[in-house]
Amino acid sequence: MELTRDRAWDTLTRHTESEALRRHALAVEASVRAYARRFGEDEELWGVVALLHDFDWEMHPTLDQHPQDGAPILREEGYPVEVIEAILSHAEHLSLPRDTPLKKALFACDELSGFVHACGLVRPDGIDTLTPKSVKKKLKQPSFAAGVHREDVYKSADELGVELDEHIAFVIDALRPIAPELGLRTAADVVAS
Ligand SMILES: [Fe+2]
Ligand SMILES: [Fe+2]
Repeated sequence: MELTRDRAWDTLTRHTESEALRRHALAVEASVRAYARRFGEDEELWGVVALLHDFDWEMHPTLDQHPQDGAPILREEGYPVEVIEAILSHAEHLSLPRDTPLKKALFACDELSGFVHACGLVRPDGIDTLTPKSVKKKLKQPSFAAGVHREDVYKSADELGVELDEHIAFVIDALRPIAPELGLRTAADVVAS
């Protein structure tokens, strides 16, 4: 099969109705694609993996099913083993080796994209003026976006070999161009209001 974003988007949206889940997929995709560009890697491949990493969450919303029970579906749809292996590796409970830059980038962008998104939702201009400093402050407040595993955020940046500040700034930059698609306000909304 030809590995394209359109194809992955079709797979994702056939299995995912929830807008929040689609937005999560888009956010992780934007971040992972940005890393592919930075590392000179295959942006389309990386983007497909990121878009699809939680494609089965709606039908498998527990860790005894997600993402392992999604893998056979992807296999049936013709996705190559490289894509499926990378997707499986984002699950901590499966303890699979994250032995490629793609796997490391996916893991590092997964929780942090969600967290940056959450930070943007409580700011009048979304993520337009959001800084790593303010994200780090929020990371230290356990009650804020409590579902995000802080340990994974710190550990995954380390595994990717990027400094936390730099990683946060990188993800914010990657998400800015798609802020409206993520349901985030922008500086333009502040001016208009
Ligand atoms: Fe997941
Ligand atoms: Fe995810």
